[in-house]
Amino acid sequence: MSEYLTKARARNVFYGGSLFFAAVFVAMVVHSHHYIVTTSTAGMPLTDEVVLGKHVWEENSCINCHSLSGEGAYFAPELSNVMTRWGVTDDPEGAYEILDGWIKAQPSGAEGRRQMPFFDLTEDETRGLAEFLRWADHTDLQGWPPNDAG
Ligand code: HEC
Repeated sequence: MSEYLTKARARNVFYGGSLFFAAVFVAMVVHSHHYIVTTSTAGMPLTDEVVLGKHVWEENSCINCHSLSGEGAYFAPELSNVMTRWGVTDDPEGAYEILDGWIKAQPSGAEGRRQMPFFDLTEDETRGLAEFLRWADHTDLQGWPPNDAG
C-alpha cells in the first residue's frame, strides 16, 4: 500500500466529507427552524389588522423615509421599536390613539426638523398601521437596532 491518496481514499474523503457536511447542514436547518418557531417571530399573532397595516405601510411607502428592523431609508426614525418608545407595546387602543395623533399633527412645521408629510388615512387604516407597528415591535430582534430615541 502506498502512502499516497489512492482512488479508494479519495472516494472515502469525498463521501465522508459530503455526509459530514450534509449532517451539519441538516442540524443547522433544524436549529434555525426551532429558533424561528420558538423565539424570533412568535411575539404576536398575524391578525387581519396587522395584515391591513402592512398593506397601508407599503401603499404609502413609509419605508422610503423610515427603516423597519433596520431595513429601509435613514431619513426618519427606525419604527420597529417606536411602540416601545411610546410605551404602548401592549396597549392596542393607546397605540392607535398616539399614532393617530402623530399622523394628524404632521407636518409639524417645527424649525430645523425633518418633516413627515400628512397622510390622509381612514380610522381602519391607522388602526392597522398601529397593529402592524406593534407586531413589528413584538418581533424578537435580539436587542437590535438599539432603542435610541429618534
Ligand atoms: C417623506 C418622509 C416620510 C415618510 C414617507 C413617512 N415618514 Fe414618518 N417620519 C418622518 C420624519 C422626518 C419623522 C420625524 C419627525 C419629527 O421627529 O419631527 C417621522 C416620524 C414618524 C413617527 C414617529 C417616530 C418617533 O420615534 O417618534 C412615526 C410613528 C411615523 N413617522 C410613521 C410613519 C408612517 C406609518 C408612514 C407611512 C404611512 C410614514 N411615517 C411615512 C418622515 C416620513
